[in-house]
Amino acid sequence: MLITNARIATMTGAQGAEGEKPLAIVEGGAVATDGDRIVYVGHSSGAPGAEQVIDAQGALLAPGLIDPHTHLIFAGDRAGEHAQRLAGASYLDIARTGGGIHSTVRATRAASDEQLIAGARERLQRLARSGVTSAEVKTGYGLSIQDELRLLRLLREAARGAGCEVIPTLLALHAAPTEIDRETWLHQVVEDLTPEAAREGARGCDAFLEQGAFSRDECRLALEAGARAGLVPHLHADQFSSSAGAQLAADLDCASADHLERITLDGILALARAGTVAVLLPLAAWFLREKPAQAAPLLEAGAVVALGSNINPGSQRIESVSLLLAAGCLLCGLTPAQALWACTAGAARALRLEDRGQIRQGLRADLVLFSTRDPAHLPYHAGVEHAQLVVQAGRVLHDFRGTAPRCG
Ligand code: NIG
Repeated sequence: MLITNARIATMTGAQGAEGEKPLAIVEGGAVATDGDRIVYVGHSSGAPGAEQVIDAQGALLAPGLIDPHTHLIFAGDRAGEHAQRLAGASYLDIARTGGGIHSTVRATRAASDEQLIAGARERLQRLARSGVTSAEVKTGYGLSIQDELRLLRLLREAARGAGCEVIPTLLALHAAPTEIDRETWLHQVVEDLTPEAAREGARGCDAFLEQGAFSRDECRLALEAGARAGLVPHLHADQFSSSAGAQLAADLDCASADHLERITLDGILALARAGTVAVLLPLAAWFLREKPAQAAPLLEAGAVVALGSNINPGSQRIESVSLLLAAGCLLCGLTPAQALWACTAGAARALRLEDRGQIRQGLRADLVLFSTRDPAHLPYHAGVEHAQLVVQAGRVLHDFRGTAPRCG
């Protein structure tokens, strides 16, 4: 396949650079694919011939978007909690009184396999239609060995035909189970669940470091067990309190530290030094009416910033890539180019996916053609999805040309 006459955002520039520089744009460019790989990136005039030729008509061609933080396999809803929060209750108060994550655990355990697969697949399909070709998905609503492994198994089913590759992450330390004491759970997670989860297809591991959730020592034990099992470690860090979570993530050589609404200067410097990606989740900060994490100090320190949707039934229920890009700009202070970089090259780094996130020869042919030539248009005309062509692993998955919103 050959896509010609495109404004190619290769994402090979430095994220902190000004204007469109992070995108390292090739004007009048072409991308050729063979099988699932990119075989040519350059000017249209030098492109090889191909069976299938698509004229991009000058529109922006970016790598397939990557969502590095979701909790999108769950059952039930927590709209009532949202209303409670809007009336003044806090997320942690609701969790302390039996709601929150535990309420979704109850609904998820009670749901049939078919319901869980259908719900997750629908959410993945919505992401795919917006240009997301890879999404990380966490467990964490099972909270028993059997229920956590069930979610990993069902995720594989949900991903089939969804058009978006799932990167499954074991989040066993999401909340302490109510049926057994936390020491027993931690022991089970470290000794039994983690190695079994790796065999069941988990690629990452994660833990929720927070007052009312898990302590530094508990998170350390779980993430070290994950690393021993070959899982890529992540940490929910500094969301509601400054608990030196970023420093712990850096210390454990985590691929990412996620949330960071309450990160400190020491935390910022630790992430930059360790190369641990700061995954910002501005839609959750907005949803919970918290102060969002700011990108500028992270970028100034030399840290890499990624953006994640954090789709989940509790702290963030908005399913829109367009609004995520807008929130990355309006709430975190990223420029449009930096936000797009955060959703591609930055997110690939956050998941240690070395074969995607940029448009380069040899990488996987995951591509999204937007309905605009101007990256500034994406967070500007927000609330509508701008993907007009989505290619995953060399296959056209969605072709909305002619029906995508017109820009300009
Ligand atoms: O990343 N903070 C912990 N986990 C999710 C919320 C999950 C839930 O409330 O169900 C988050 O915000």
